[in-house]
Amino acid sequence: MNQTTEEPIGRRHFMERAILGIFGALGLMLSAPIIGYILSPIFRVRENLAQSTRWAPIASLAEMESIGDLPRMFQVPYFVKEGWRTRETSRPVFAVKKGGKLALFSSFCTHLGCPTAWDEAKRMIICPCHGGLYNNFGEVIGGPPPRNLAEMEYKVENGLVYLKDPANVYEVGWKDPRRPA
Ligand code: FES
Repeated sequence: MNQTTEEPIGRRHFMERAILGIFGALGLMLSAPIIGYILSPIFRVRENLAQSTRWAPIASLAEMESIGDLPRMFQVPYFVKEGWRTRETSRPVFAVKKGGKLALFSSFCTHLGCPTAWDEAKRMIICPCHGGLYNNFGEVIGGPPPRNLAEMEYKVENGLVYLKDPANVYEVGWKDPRRPA
């Protein structure tokens, strides 16, 4: 007698659990993207920190040694992660001998971050955006730039010159207009 009364209750429990399980799985599936969105800044910060200690090869030491006191521009290739994909890009930097020592500096104007270029005829670095002018060592000689082009860190290893953190355009000199001063 007991067996016949227990069976429908067992089936009902089973059905309740199955329905709960299905809804639980559906809830997890639907909330996964939201949780991922909430946690993604943590992963982005980790990625940025990893990038900030990167060294990118620029050129051989022999090539750098051949540079004089007129700046030469190098495009330093590096990879950036955008969501799920990784793409290659490059960072332009000037290399010059200053007092007989190699110096690297950012080519981004310290006014509003436009890319600058060496003008061979005028013998100065020119920013085309608002007429900023720098000498061959990246020092301001005219126009609105508030400070010299930012010097960048480098190291020499196994005959190669490496640039520190090519992706970091914010901390090496130019003012990001979206950030407060
Ligand atoms: S951004 Fe270079 S002078 Fe304004």
